[in-house]
Amino acid sequence: MSHEVVEKNVGLLVLLILLVVSVGGLVEIVPLFFLKSTTTPVEGLKPLTALQLEGRDIYIREGCYLCHSQMIRPFRWETERYGHYSVAGEFVYDHPFQWGSKRTGPDLARVGGRYSDEWHRVHLMNPRDVVPDSIMPGFPWLAKNKLTGELTARKMKVLRILGVPYTDQQIAQAKSEVAGKTEMDALIAYLQQLGTDIKTRR
Ligand code: HEC
Repeated sequence: MSHEVVEKNVGLLVLLILLVVSVGGLVEIVPLFFLKSTTTPVEGLKPLTALQLEGRDIYIREGCYLCHSQMIRPFRWETERYGHYSVAGEFVYDHPFQWGSKRTGPDLARVGGRYSDEWHRVHLMNPRDVVPDSIMPGFPWLAKNKLTGELTARKMKVLRILGVPYTDQQIAQAKSEVAGKTEMDALIAYLQQLGTDIKTRR
């Protein structure tokens, strides 16, 4: 009888559906904010340096995440290829994280240290020079564009508000660390640290 009332009253039905969905959401999501394994950084986790941080912003600007994930799932065929599966504590300082959801290219979560800087430079200029069948586009302008470092310190200050433990000294040095470097330098610095915080690879 009472169910009939709900079914015949669209407004009430919508309200009750919203209530049920939000209770479900709260019960599933809120505990994650307090679970140690999702909020504690893995041992030795370091925030991105000023140059790596600029590289991360170039990674986002160029849309690398549209073809590359940074999230190794805990399956044999993934760990054999990419290394140790990703753990939550590796991403505690990432705002926003770059997990992605599309793998046109390989996962990059542990690409740090796998190739030399020079390999990355050649690959980013024109991927076909090192991987003949590659369908990845080249990004040659990155080698020309110079960074000024004007905004780097401000970006770090915002991240500090979000909980990334940058020191005053790191922030003060940010500009001099970045100024004059190319966008290519920054992006490679970013790629070379990916996934290196846990040293269990291969
Ligand atoms: C249109 C899709 C696409 C985009 C956009 C793209 N990539 Fe790729 N990427 C690929 C493909 C496909 C491969 C595999 C072939 C190769 O190595 O070139 C690859 C390979 C790579 C590799 C080598 C990975 C490995 O383990 O061998 C790196 C590093 C990489 N990409 C970085 C980047 C970066 C950085 C950007 C953004 C500046 C980017 N990619 C943008 C498709 C893409």
